Amino acid sequence: MDFVNGPQGPPPLRSGAPYASIPAPGEPPAGRSVLAQIGNTPLLALHRVTVGLGEVRVCAKAEWFNPGGSVKDRAALRIVEDAEAAGRLTPDRILLDSTSGNTGIALAMIGAVKGYRVQLVMPASVSEERKRIVLSYGAEVSYTEPMEGSDGALREVRRRVEADPDRYFYANQYDNPSNWRAHHDGTAVEIWRQTGGRVTHFVAALGTTGTFTGTARRLKALAPGLHAASVQPATPIHGIEGLKHLDSAIVPGIHDPALADEELFVETEEAYEMAKRLAREEGILAGYSAGAALAGALRVARRLERGLVVTVFPDGGDRYLSTTYWGEELARAPGRRP
Ligand SMILES: Cc1ncc(COP(=O)(O)O)c(C=O)c1O
Repeated sequence: MDFVNGPQGPPPLRSGAPYASIPAPGEPPAGRSVLAQIGNTPLLALHRVTVGLGEVRVCAKAEWFNPGGSVKDRAALRIVEDAEAAGRLTPDRILLDSTSGNTGIALAMIGAVKGYRVQLVMPASVSEERKRIVLSYGAEVSYTEPMEGSDGALREVRRRVEADPDRYFYANQYDNPSNWRAHHDGTAVEIWRQTGGRVTHFVAALGTTGTFTGTARRLKALAPGLHAASVQPATPIHGIEGLKHLDSAIVPGIHDPALADEELFVETEEAYEMAKRLAREEGILAGYSAGAALAGALRVARRLERGLVVTVFPDGGDRYLSTTYWGEELARAPGRRP
């Protein structure tokens, strides 16, 4: 399999600081690395899609505010910096992972900052925008059969690492505890602070499961009565990029089913419809997995008399505008030019 980008660009420039996201003591806020902008995303209150919910509030972490445009910046940075600190990622190694897109974007961005060569394997069905973004950061990309989904890309990466283990640092977002720890130490703590400790329910959709596992684990430690609900696509074949139907997929090693007080299943059409409602009713242009997360959060919220439901919107909607769903919606849009 050939890579689309070849080895290229200037020689590696290591950042030097193993934890580039944490400013050194006395460091001024200006003039920091783009990596310092990862995390501390806004918590947005939803006003119109929640009409009729009375005393119940629904809020969402707006993860497209991360510099790579998604929640995966958090996990990727933690994976890279933990590996650097442990001596498992060195300048001579290629940073390799399978990704449905957003982790690849995050690794490509981080690799560009820190001077690592990055190789990504992704299903050919990933949206055109995502492919172009990783190539723009200088990553090398190869594609697997669309019908094999994210598991096909995963198998290809494992094959490559087994063939030449010393050549790569395999980020392995599905099994790497640094993935969920990013959310345990970041996302969850932010939610706790941003809600003043008033969060009662947490809802998140499952891909690698890092967001749900890390955030739910920490929030439950902070508030033992907190209710955590996970969201999956309802069917094995679905159109919600970034999410996994766990019964029919390779289950991520970091998945901890004991953390979910309930499992919710969302149809592709409902996720798409919710993504459209977010744009039209809240002014939030988010991805389809955010639509799935919202569908789950509203299901939980409708059962309550009072409470504060927090969910996570993993990425923005601009990465999906070339998909069929938005294409058909926009073709119907009033004021569309001929
Ligand atoms: C768009 C999108 N939504 C949701 C997720 C799921 O997040 P996690 O991998 O933390 O479970 C991902 C992960 O890749 C994603 O790219």
